[in-house]
Amino acid sequence: MIGSRRAVVKARGLFGYTLPPSLPGDSQEMSQQRESSSEPDRLFDDPEAGNSDFVFDNRTARVFDDMVNRSVPLYGEIQRMLGEMAADFATPGSNLFDLGCATGTSLIQLDPVVDPGVRFVGVDNSAEMLDKAREKLTAHGMQRQWELQQADLHREQVVENASVVIMNLTLQFIRPLYRERVARNIYEGLEEQGALLLVEKLTIGDSLFNRLFINYYYEMKRRHGYSEVEIAAKREALENVLIPYRPEENRELLAQAGFSHIEEFFRWYNFSGIIAVK
Ligand SMILES: C[S@@+](CC[C@H](N)C(=O)[O-])C[C@H]1O[C@@H](n2cnc3c(N)ncnc32)[C@H](O)[C@@H]1O
Repeated sequence: MIGSRRAVVKARGLFGYTLPPSLPGDSQEMSQQRESSSEPDRLFDDPEAGNSDFVFDNRTARVFDDMVNRSVPLYGEIQRMLGEMAADFATPGSNLFDLGCATGTSLIQLDPVVDPGVRFVGVDNSAEMLDKAREKLTAHGMQRQWELQQADLHREQVVENASVVIMNLTLQFIRPLYRERVARNIYEGLEEQGALLLVEKLTIGDSLFNRLFINYYYEMKRRHGYSEVEIAAKREALENVLIPYRPEENRELLAQAGFSHIEEFFRWYNFSGIIAVK
């Protein structure tokens, strides 16, 4: 049975920390959503920074919340939608997994809307990101059962007794060779009628649209205060690390893993959210 929605999202900030200063191009909503303890993201304002692969280390963890708010279109709305859907599928006594939980933003956003009998498990392979997540979850005062696990999704099967699995911008960092196995492990660890909420950056098969969508994406980054140097250096650093799939490849991956109900719930040019139900 699909669990009933317990509560309305509380009209409050995501974390209750101090608000970083507004950035050029910020909407009011975006400024409000950028509530966090994050330092401003200047990781790539040195062109040399593009010479090494992007890593989720201590430097990234310190600026991550600012980075993700300025680099992911409608990040706050995606988080709100994940909460809305998770609340409908999460069942008391089961686990909700956030794979690639990073600094714990989703878990904090989910807390007021998901049944308190649902246990939260955040998983990440970066100790530094998990340290930040632990700090934020503790400051948030999470009352339900929760746990943070350090695990590499390339090697470990972590999902069990789950009614909801969230992968927000994480599968794109899993090497393609391993994605089938990761999707199958998620499917196996979900209860009947459990849901996977998957958000990914995309590449588009048609080169005209791919080019256009990438341009619109970089325009968004400019509006959010990133310079040409920062945009170029980050693109280079991510080149071998973030491997986006085409929309049809993601659907195929989920269908092959066994999911029978698959639907796109979010789309912004080259970003997509998919819900898949077992
Ligand atoms: C873009 S961030 C995810 C953002 C986050 N889900 C959110 O809602 O803000 C990707 C995360 O996946 C983690 N990650 C990357 N590869 C991983 C792997 N092989 N196993 C576990 N976590 C991984 C990174 O450490 C990082 O925290």
